Amino acid sequence: MKRSGNRLSNQVAIVTGAGQGMGATMAKLIAEEGGQVVVSDINQEKASVIADEISETETQALAVQADVTREEDVKAMVETTIEHYGTISILVNNAGILYPTRIEQITKAEWDRVLEVNLTGTFLCSQMVLKTMKKNRYGRIVNMSSSAGRSVSTLGGAHYTAAKAGVLGLSRALAKEMAPFGITVNAICPGLIDTEMVQAECTPERISAYEASFPIPRLGRPDEVAQLMLFLATDSAYITGASIDINGGDLMI
Ligand SMILES: NC(=O)c1ccc[n+]([C@@H]2O[C@H](COP(=O)([O-])OP(=O)(O)OC[C@H]3O[C@@H](n4cnc5c(N)ncnc54)[C@H](O)[C@@H]3O)[C@@H](O)[C@H]2O)c1
Repeated sequence: MKRSGNRLSNQVAIVTGAGQGMGATMAKLIAEEGGQVVVSDINQEKASVIADEISETETQALAVQADVTREEDVKAMVETTIEHYGTISILVNNAGILYPTRIEQITKAEWDRVLEVNLTGTFLCSQMVLKTMKKNRYGRIVNMSSSAGRSVSTLGGAHYTAAKAGVLGLSRALAKEMAPFGITVNAICPGLIDTEMVQAECTPERISAYEASFPIPRLGRPDEVAQLMLFLATDSAYITGASIDINGGDLMI
C-alpha cells in the first residue's frame, strides 16, 4: 500500500478511457487518494493492465470494458460498479478520440464517430449515473473538453472542435439541472498534454515548435491535469458549470 492521501476515502469513481493517457493517470491518482476506482476503456486489455497496476499498490481496482457510445455497455459499466462497490460518487468522462481530417475530407461516418465518442458518450455515461447520485444527493462529474472547445483545435478537425464545444454546453446544462441534488458538473479544457493522442499526431519537431510558442514553453503533463480533476472531484461544492483551462497560457480568455 503506497497511498499518498485520503482525500477520496469512501468515494467510488468511474473513469472512462482510462486504459492510457490522462484517464490512466487520473484513475491512479484517485486510488492514491483512497478512492475505489473503475478503470473503464473500450480496450479491455489496456484497462486490465492499469487496474492491475493500481491493485498492486493501492486498493483493488476494477477493469470494465465499455464503449461509451453503446448504451448497453454504459449500463453494464454502471451496474457492475454498483454491484462491486455499492455506489458511484465520481464520474470522469475522459474517453475521447481525435482525427486531424480537414473539413472537406471528413466523411459522415467519421463525423458521427467523433461526435459519438466525445459528446454522446459523455451524455450517456452522465445520464446513467444520475439516479445513484441523486439518491445520494451527492456527485462529482468531471468532463474532459479541450482548448478546442473554447477556441479551435490545434490538432483535431472540425468534428473534434464541435464535439468538445458540445461537451461544454452539455456540462453547463447538466450542472444547472443537477445543482439542487448536490451534484456538481465541471469541464476541464486542456491544451496540448503529453499523451499518446498527441504523440500519434505530431512529429517531435512539430511538438518542439508548439512548445516554443507557449508562454510556459512545454507540453502539459497528465499528472497536472489529474490534480485539477482531483480538486474538482473534492473541493468543488460551489463550483459548477465551469470550464477550466489548463494550457500553459496558450489560450488566455
Ligand atoms: N492529449 C491532449 O493534448 C488533450 C488535450 C485536450 C483534451 N484532451 C482530451 O482528454 C481526454 C484524454 O485524452 P488522452 O490524450 O489521454 O487520450 P488517449 O488517446 O491517450 O486515451 C484515450 C483513451 O480513450 C479510449 N477510448 C477511445 N474511444 C473510446 C470509447 N468509444 N469508449 C471508451 N473508451 C474509449 C482509448 O482506448 C484510450 O485508452 C480525451 O477526451 C481527449 O480528447 C486531450
